[in-house]
Amino acid sequence: MIIASNFKTNHTRNSTYAYLATLQEFITKKDSKQDIYIFPPSTALDGFTLSSQIHVGVQNAYPVEKGSFTGEIGLEQINEFGLNTILIGHSERRHILGESQALCAKKFDYFKEQDFEIVYCIGEPLEVREKGIDEVMAYNLKQLEGIDLSYDKLIVAYEPVWAIGTGVSASVQQIEETLGKLHQKVKAPLLYGGSVNVSSVKEILEIEHCEGVLVGTASWDVDSFCQMIEIADSI
Ligand code: PGA
Repeated sequence: MIIASNFKTNHTRNSTYAYLATLQEFITKKDSKQDIYIFPPSTALDGFTLSSQIHVGVQNAYPVEKGSFTGEIGLEQINEFGLNTILIGHSERRHILGESQALCAKKFDYFKEQDFEIVYCIGEPLEVREKGIDEVMAYNLKQLEGIDLSYDKLIVAYEPVWAIGTGVSASVQQIEETLGKLHQKVKAPLLYGGSVNVSSVKEILEIEHCEGVLVGTASWDVDSFCQMIEIADSI
């Protein structure tokens, strides 16, 4: 299974090193079989020496090698560290930073060309969820517009906006129904994200078509993230 941590704007360079050292020790000691993805802030990126099941990626990048895009990083900065995994379309970038579907698709195309592993996020806001599953699916499928769903290094994370950082996860039934419908269109691995924690991760990982979780808040503490990995190992 895929167990992913999005640090967002948390952790420093020092604490990222400490986090990864603890994580690596845990994975080795427990001989964990999970695929782990870590997305530190860009100030903490480096050429880490980790076992191959731990993938470090960038939370965002501009679809360019280099150039005049103040505040952004491009391929040149990512290549310096030999990284080739990226998160695209996270709801905080879409809704707080105003990233359009066209820009998400442009980023996808660019990093697909570069052969990156892409964790591509979709998810509906509350007012759409309240209208029922048909509206939810229409909204989520729009966020897949322009995305090559046959790309073999694509992972799709379903993360309802109303469940992110709120402490209120979508219910097992809602996740099951949404992932089931998504699976009819998307053959890439599907993750769920939105207030996943140590208590809920087992029932979520057991949902049909759920191949992993993308965790924010509950993953920032390395012990709690390791507990989630251990739970995944026990399934
Ligand atoms: P959360 O964040 O676990 O804090 O809800 C999930 C995400 O944004 O990926």
